[in-house]
Amino acid sequence: MTLDAKPYLQAVSVRSDAAGDPNVYPFNIPSIRGMGTLRFHPDVTFFVGENGVGKSTVLEAIAVALGYSPEGGTKNVQLKTVESVSSLHQSLRLARSFKKPADGYFLRAESFFNVATYMDQVGYLGGYDNRSLHARSHGEAFMTLLTHKFRGDGLYLMDEPEAALSPNRQLAALAAIHQLVLEGSQFIIATHSPILLAYPRARILQFGDSGVAEVRFEDTEHYTVTRDFLNNFPRRLEQLLGEPTDEGPLL
Ligand SMILES: Nc1ncnc2c1ncn2[C@@H]1O[C@H](COP(=O)(O)OP(=O)(O)O)[C@@H](O)[C@H]1O
Ligand SMILES: [Mg+2]
Repeated sequence: MTLDAKPYLQAVSVRSDAAGDPNVYPFNIPSIRGMGTLRFHPDVTFFVGENGVGKSTVLEAIAVALGYSPEGGTKNVQLKTVESVSSLHQSLRLARSFKKPADGYFLRAESFFNVATYMDQVGYLGGYDNRSLHARSHGEAFMTLLTHKFRGDGLYLMDEPEAALSPNRQLAALAAIHQLVLEGSQFIIATHSPILLAYPRARILQFGDSGVAEVRFEDTEHYTVTRDFLNNFPRRLEQLLGEPTDEGPLL
């Protein structure tokens, strides 16, 4: 029997002896109290769920437990401008592969700007196509990560990477992620993008009030709501806005 190196990160759970105060962040979040064990797909695992359900908190805690700064970046970036990091990382149990990933990155959308400034300050742009990330649009800077910075054989954590990307770029991101998967990489991605969620070599974990459960792509709200809206948008707009839309949407 041959052992697979992937998934580099196999599973994460809250330690049973971790007695967090259920009235205080982060244990006041129902999905975290009921999290159980998150088992990761060897290729891509998505976190989905309503805004505020705890996806970023869990992703950040995993990143910090793995040695990343809560700001994100590679493990060499140790910025501390995020004010309140939750204590959750101290309570996590991580099950890892016998083999360590050769590469890694934590993309935290809100502080990607700070990481870009840091890269300029330290003058390290070798992995970024030798051009300041600030000299590109947010979407271009992000695509540079996927196409130049990530080398493969890596474990990559990303929080809402689609925030910067046009629909076409999301398709390009999907292809780039697939290439990196073929090159031995594993991704954990919190996302609201129905385009990214369509990736087939993946597991979708849905965060909700009673914990975290696996869900099929076609059963996600992202798929059903987007599909319904695009197929019926004049009628849905009428229902939402309470006025006829004969002249087309004003928005
Ligand atoms: N640093 C913090 N201190 C206290 N509460 C927080 C903090 N960060 C997030 N929260 C709260 O925790 C909940 C989960 O947030 P978050 O993990 O960002 O959700 P998601 O990423 O799923 O939208 C939200 O209700 C949010 O207001
Ligand atoms: Mg979030």
